[in-house]
This record gives sequence, C-alpha cells and structure tokens, in this order.
Amino acid sequence: DNTGDQNAVEKSDFEKSDTEGSRIGRDLPFEFGKRNLTEESDVWDHNAWDNVEWGEEQVQQAEEKIKEQFKHPVPEFDKKLYNENPARYWDIFYKNNKENFFKDRKWLQIEFPILYASTRKDAEPVTIFEIGCGAGNTFFPILKDNENENLRIIAADFAPRAVELVKNSEQFNPKYGHATVWDLANPDGNLPDGVEPHSV
Ligand SMILES: C[S@@+](CC[C@H](N)C(=O)[O-])C[C@H]1O[C@@H](n2cnc3c(N)ncnc32)[C@H](O)[C@@H]1O
Repeated sequence: DNTGDQNAVEKSDFEKSDTEGSRIGRDLPFEFGKRNLTEESDVWDHNAWDNVEWGEEQVQQAEEKIKEQFKHPVPEFDKKLYNENPARYWDIFYKNNKENFFKDRKWLQIEFPILYASTRKDAEPVTIFEIGCGAGNTFFPILKDNENENLRIIAADFAPRAVELVKNSEQFNPKYGHATVWDLANPDGNLPDGVEPHSV
C-alpha cells in the first residue's frame, strides 16, 4: 500500500498548483522498476521509488513516527463530524482544489495492464467502472488512449463537484464515458444511474 507516499506527493502537487495550473494530461508514462531516485530534489516526481533499501535508521524513524501519531489521535468531535457526512467534506475539497490536486495515475498502465488492454482497437466489448473517480486522473488517461469502439467507462463519485469537473472537462467524451454522482455505501444498495445489474 503506497497511500502514505501518494498523499505526500499529492500535497506537493497541490502546493505547486497555484502557479502551474492543471496537471491533467501533462504527465508522461514511466517504466516500472526503473524509478531510481538519484537526485534528492526529484523526490516528488513519482508516486513511489524502486530499488530502495530501508536501513536500520529509517526503520527506527518510521517506528518513532507511528508512536508519535498514536499520541495524537483524531479528536472524537472531528471523527464524528467527518464520518457523519464524508461526501460533504470531499465536495468541499473539490470546491477548493478543483482538478489541480491529484496527479494522473501513470502507474496504473503498468500495474493494471488489463485496463489499457481494454482500450485497444481489437479488444472485446468491455465496461470499466471507477468508484471514487475524483477529478478524473484515472478515468481520463484511460479514455484518452481508447481505440475500442465498444469500451464503456463509468466514473462515479459521491462528491457532486468531482463529477461536475469530470463532465465539464474538455477531455470528457460521452460516446464512451459516463459520469454520475453515487455513494458506494448508500444504505439502499442502489446502483448508479445508467448502470444495470451485471453490466460491469
Ligand atoms: C483519493 S480520491 C481518488 C480520485 C481518483 N480515483 C483518482 O484516481 O484521482 C478518492 C475519491 O473517492 C471518493 N469517495 C470516497 N468514498 C466514496 C463513496 N463511498 N462513494 C463514492 N465515492 C467515494 C472521494 O470523493 C474521492 O473523490
């Protein structure tokens, strides 16, 4: 799980985003296994680095950080506030950051090649459903490469502003793509608008 690293990278992107504008579509693919960090200043260039050996010192630092975190648990008040209405707080996040926070998920091409195989001209008819699409940093790179006339890609998020960002993007193509507001945890177990049972 590289969530921790990812959050750190995304934070850095956000800090840069004021001056640089949108990152979507600007990131080139890389080769998995060859992300060797040689210049300390490049540290934010990738979601994770390859061929990294942890030394005793790093293990110790990590353990200390975990201990430190346990000393400051999320206050009960905040826990309740955010857990009671997570969609609202994600929606505020997209109001503030628009499409400028996350980087395109370039590593998906390498780690989940099946997604990109589905976009080839000779691929079978296929439906991809992304739950929690955000501003489209997974959705758009797949859509952009698509040559499969029978691809359908659905993007759902419970934050209405995220879905608006996807729909209003000039990269959105309604011929293959569909975006909709939907909560995976909706208590009625409803499927998103436009998604039939057993269709994905
Ligand atoms: C870390 S963002 C990832 C966005 C996107 N997948 C990407 O690759 O950039 C996680 C997204 O999941 C959405 N999300 C979290 N819980 C959800 C739920 N129960 N139903 C639908 N969307 C959810 C959030 O609103 C947020 O946009």
